[in-house]
Amino acid sequence: MAPVGMAEDLPWTSAWVTGASAGIGRALALRLAAGGCAVTASARDTGALKKLHDEHVAITPLPLDVTDTAAVMAAVPALEARQGPLDLAVFNAGTYEPLPGGLGDPEVFRHHMEVNYMGVVNGLHGVVPAMKERGRGQVALMGSLSGYRGLPRAACYGPTKAALINLAETLRTELRGSGVDLRIVNPGFVATRLTDKNDFTMPDLMTAPDAADAIIRGLEGRGFEIAFPRRFALFMKLARLLPYGLFFPLAARLARG
Ligand SMILES: NC(=O)c1ccc[n+]([C@@H]2O[C@H](COP(=O)([O-])OP(=O)(O)OC[C@H]3O[C@@H](n4cnc5c(N)ncnc54)[C@H](OP(=O)(O)O)[C@@H]3O)[C@@H](O)[C@H]2O)c1
Repeated sequence: MAPVGMAEDLPWTSAWVTGASAGIGRALALRLAAGGCAVTASARDTGALKKLHDEHVAITPLPLDVTDTAAVMAAVPALEARQGPLDLAVFNAGTYEPLPGGLGDPEVFRHHMEVNYMGVVNGLHGVVPAMKERGRGQVALMGSLSGYRGLPRAACYGPTKAALINLAETLRTELRGSGVDLRIVNPGFVATRLTDKNDFTMPDLMTAPDAADAIIRGLEGRGFEIAFPRRFALFMKLARLLPYGLFFPLAARLARG
């Protein structure tokens, strides 16, 4: 596979990436555009989206707050009229505040759920009905390996990702035979402004362009779950299987940093 930035034909012609103003979403939008795909890039930061368009003309900014259900629903017909029916939607927008101690302001919990979970639910209601009508389309939900188990500092964030994994499992079955191919993306640690907030050593930390490559490879493949990097994903899969008697001592060690 060609590295990020190099032209290479990808199987999609019309894509939508939310949370594209920074980090993984930004790298993914550039990667898709370099592969010949028309991309609508959404986020709240209009200046950052404009810069993205300046970097690649195939990327069209669509400023949007994913928590605004009406705006998300209205966005889809408009973007499809401009760049053609979506054959890929990546619901990537997300937020994260580490919370040592586990409790804080309930509004911060609510905000995480609104952005990370309801933002995706809004997007799904925007794109899936038309994809079902056409009998084709691919949708990716941005989960996280941290959704596997309750981890220290992740009280606001982890449950939103666990909810997305659960939702994706349900929808995978519900959409069976519809032609809509729904996936869950579960990254480990990726160096972005989001993980800049972590004050602990992050194992197997990868770059956003490498994460974008892993997502593209996964979407081109057939697996329901796109989990990476391989070694840390395996560690988390094993951690998911641990009984509580073994899991809590491990979590206590992680909490010490
Ligand atoms: N970095 C990691 O290690 C890691 C690991 C696993 C999963 N993830 C997931 O990957 C996704 C991208 O994270 P990242 O690390 O690339 O973080 P990031 O650099 O902070 O990017 C987050 C993106 O989400 C957008 N966003 C936040 N709130 C939004 C809202 N209300 N409406 C629309 N867009 C909004 C941000 O844009 P604006 O601020 O301009 O709106 C930004 O484009 C998230 O879902 C995150 O949970 C990240």
